[in-house]
Amino acid sequence: MQIVILKDAAEVARYGADIFTTQLQRKAGAVLGLATGSTPVALYQELIRRNQAGEVSFKNATTFNLDEYLGLSGEHPQSYRYFMDQQLFDHVDIDKNNTHVPPGDAKNPITACQEYEAKIAAAGGIDIQLLGIGRNGHIGFNEPSSGLTSRTRVKTLTKATIDDNARFFAADEYQPHLSITMGIGTILDARKVVLLATGENKADAVKAMVEGPLTAACPASALQLHRDAVIVIDLAAASKL
Ligand code: GLP
Repeated sequence: MQIVILKDAAEVARYGADIFTTQLQRKAGAVLGLATGSTPVALYQELIRRNQAGEVSFKNATTFNLDEYLGLSGEHPQSYRYFMDQQLFDHVDIDKNNTHVPPGDAKNPITACQEYEAKIAAAGGIDIQLLGIGRNGHIGFNEPSSGLTSRTRVKTLTKATIDDNARFFAADEYQPHLSITMGIGTILDARKVVLLATGENKADAVKAMVEGPLTAACPASALQLHRDAVIVIDLAAASKL
């Protein structure tokens, strides 16, 4: 694991954007693994700025998102497909047909998970996977106790994650308790992994991921096994290392 500690969230976003820019410039048909949550938003804004300035192009890129709420269609404002359209895809020169988010409205979610894995394989695998981290150490929606070799599947969310993400939902709005997520094994197959974490509320999870034992109790600790994992964090997130 390479640990990069930077001053603040803005520097973390720029550093992450540099890694993605380099990948997009190096390989015309880059395959990017993308993430949702509040952490990657600033990185996406930086990539949009660079794309609109003509510094980087998504024209031939393919993307695969980590996860989606099961039970929400892509038109639902709380779905991760909607989030990605709003936060990135609608503002860059990507061909939307090449953007993939697990289908939250799949009639047969189990088959849909297998199909998602097959699509990643058919694209030649993921070049760089972007990740955030949950306060309980989850990556994607791989909650604590997730198998370290797991593949894309349906996962129940823990109460901690439901509570953490409740801020995105209105008080009377239905909040899903199930998800489709790439597995830890799927994530580890990416040729490079870039995890961003900012703020003091991520400090315990960062410590467990970096300094703790390799354990399903902290899914992000599986990144210790990856050959090219870059952990980009600000001083606050690094404060317990
Ligand atoms: C969600 C997502 C994760 C994300 C996590 C942290 O649960 N499924 O992929 O890393 O939230 O989100 P945030 O960046 O908002 O703290």
